[in-house]
Amino acid sequence: MPRNIIIDTDPGQDDAVAILLAFASPEVNVLGITAVAGNVPLPLTQKNARIVCELAGKPETLVFAGCDAPMGRKLVTAEHVHGKTGLDGPQLNDPVMPLQDQHAVDWIIETLRAAPANSVTLCPLGPLTNIATALQRAPDIINAIEEIVLMGGGYFEGGNITPAAEFNIYVDPQAADIVFRAGVPLTVMPLDVTHKALTTADHIAGFRSMGTHVGDMVAAWTDFFERFDKEKYGSEGAPLHDPTVIAYLIKPDLFTGRHINVEIETTSELTMGATVADWWRVSDRAPNCTFMGDLDADGFFDLLTERLARLG
Ligand code: RIB
Ligand code: CA
Repeated sequence: MPRNIIIDTDPGQDDAVAILLAFASPEVNVLGITAVAGNVPLPLTQKNARIVCELAGKPETLVFAGCDAPMGRKLVTAEHVHGKTGLDGPQLNDPVMPLQDQHAVDWIIETLRAAPANSVTLCPLGPLTNIATALQRAPDIINAIEEIVLMGGGYFEGGNITPAAEFNIYVDPQAADIVFRAGVPLTVMPLDVTHKALTTADHIAGFRSMGTHVGDMVAAWTDFFERFDKEKYGSEGAPLHDPTVIAYLIKPDLFTGRHINVEIETTSELTMGATVADWWRVSDRAPNCTFMGDLDADGFFDLLTERLARLG
């Protein structure tokens, strides 16, 4: 029985690969895709989400535009990483499939209110503005959420947009605080894991050798997107963040972590958006998430490559 999921996203090349992985995997059923402002502004993230759906051969997918700014802060974007369009790398045509008229937050609330208990998994891949706004406006939707599996945060790896904070959490710390305090089953893919999912030249060559349009697109996206992090970390490859969320739904045993307390810094500007993870359980704060710390990187890339090859 596939898991019903909603992907909330700010494409973003790594978001794009995560969405493709979801469409290629029978273990998950994508109920819809909700775009949020993050890597690039909302008009681009909603357009990019539709480009990826068409690339996957899924033009019937429901794609919604959500919040265009964080709950309490000015939007910070990441064109320096993802390029002006958010999907720089290959040449892309504008999407033909429609954007749904309904606001993403309204659709999330309506969908969860109509869903059976514990039946929908939310997969946030960007700032948590849409998810937190829905939870704040309709706390009753918690009942329908089976699990939230998100990419965000970092503990041993610190931050990537400031020394203390990872981008998705940093952009909307207030939203992250709402999600981490919501009492929903929460699984977190932090930089501690994604920094071990390094897209090496061999992996990119593997995408390219698929001989498919999807393989070529993924190779071009990862080539472009990785240049910034390879420069920054001086590593052989750069982290492929968002697909870890979908890989977890398909093969959870690829990942190991701890059920611990994680709270979000929402006051100090110096550490704004830090995920304060009680990895060593030194506080008496109640555990509120499974915070992943390691993954089988070879297994992750084998799964990703095998599944992407299923798409044309
Ligand atoms: O810090 C990495 C995260 O920020 C990823 O989700 C990437 O797409 C960007 O949104
Ligand atoms: Ca993202």
